[in-house]
Amino acid sequence: MVKILLTGVAGYIGSHVAVELLNAGYDVIGIDNLSNSCDKSIQAVSAITKKNITFYKSDIRDEDALQQIFSQHIIDACIHCAGLKAVAESVEKPLEYYDNNINGTMTLLKVMRRFGCKNMIFSSSATVYGDVDALPITEQTTKRDCSNPYGQSKNMIEQILQDLQNSDNSWNIILLRYFNPIGAHKSGKIGENPQGIPNNLMPYITQVAIGKRPYLNVFGNNYNTHDGTGVRDYIHVADLAKGHIKALDAIKINCGLKIYNLSAGKGYSVLDIVKSFEKVTGIKIPYQIKPPRNGDIAACYADASKALKELGWKAELGIDDMCIDAWNWQKKNPDGYK
Ligand code: NAD
Ligand code: UD1
Repeated sequence: MVKILLTGVAGYIGSHVAVELLNAGYDVIGIDNLSNSCDKSIQAVSAITKKNITFYKSDIRDEDALQQIFSQHIIDACIHCAGLKAVAESVEKPLEYYDNNINGTMTLLKVMRRFGCKNMIFSSSATVYGDVDALPITEQTTKRDCSNPYGQSKNMIEQILQDLQNSDNSWNIILLRYFNPIGAHKSGKIGENPQGIPNNLMPYITQVAIGKRPYLNVFGNNYNTHDGTGVRDYIHVADLAKGHIKALDAIKINCGLKIYNLSAGKGYSVLDIVKSFEKVTGIKIPYQIKPPRNGDIAACYADASKALKELGWKAELGIDDMCIDAWNWQKKNPDGYK
């Protein structure tokens, strides 16, 4: 297995997966419509790895474009990271989210099947679990309601992939449920590049640190957690990316349909992250307590032992590394890729 189609290659996670794939000796055929990214990340991946991605600026809903790509390359597997991911935006634009994420995946799957490429790793999310009854979350945990179109789209795609594999067991499909990826490649050349005001915690903190925002809004301090602020299972994006290489190894031995949590297996509160960031950077992060954000849950963390047992993968980097690398990226690129 040598040639991997990587959708969403220019994005935050896709660019880090591309680095790991190239470093592991794979050829990367990348596709991205650049709707939430730009091709500078692809150039940065080349600078890091001294290798090139074959890049197509195309939409995964464009069947003709996919057909062209599959005609030009013998693709062994697809790592499918392309998708729209902003929860609040998905509530405002459900049709756009369902169209992009679900129709995009359907089109991709149909073209893959046509060309006999039946190996896929899908970027799923912890969001599919919803507000579960008990923590830590294992892959067996019963899913609860997931209240927004973004999460629903991930759930529906998981179902489509399960049905597909059920109907034809020559498909090998791995659903990777990411917990909270943060941090950046240690070079500081690629990282998270939010458009406008960041929705997520770490890019907001780094923008406060660089002076773009006056203070952090801490959404809620009355949750049933050790300090009252929300608890999440943060994972370094480089560790997350390495998980995809291990998943490819499983695909090579015809794994069928598998589901793995990719997480560090530890819960940290918002204030834990602020403290760690302040400790490793020496920069004070002023914050104000604000009402809880709509749709947020108190705590979410996983049991990641299945990935260790079956894939031989575990997160190596801790919360301090995540803060150091997120800050290194922000510092070197105050305006992201602009
Ligand atoms: P991102 O927005 O940085 O990357 C997604 C990439 O997909 C972008 O470059 C975008 O331009 C591209 N894209 C979107 N729709 C496309 C289409 N129709 N055709 C071609 N390209 C398209 O997001 P990310 O953080 O890198 O997330 C990657 C995947 O992981 C997404 O599917 C996301 O839902 C999932 N995920 C992310 C997180 C997270 O916290 N970042 C957590 C869980 C799951
Ligand atoms: C969110 C999404 C999730 C998505 C993930 C990655 C929601 C409800 N969930 O996860 O579906 O997969 O992003 O895109 O939006 N926080 C603050 N101040 C901030 C930002 C966040 O206090 O400015 C808090 C949040 O309340 C939460 C924690 O920090 O307790 C982490 O938030 P965030 O980084 O947005 O991730 P999730 O909400 O876990």
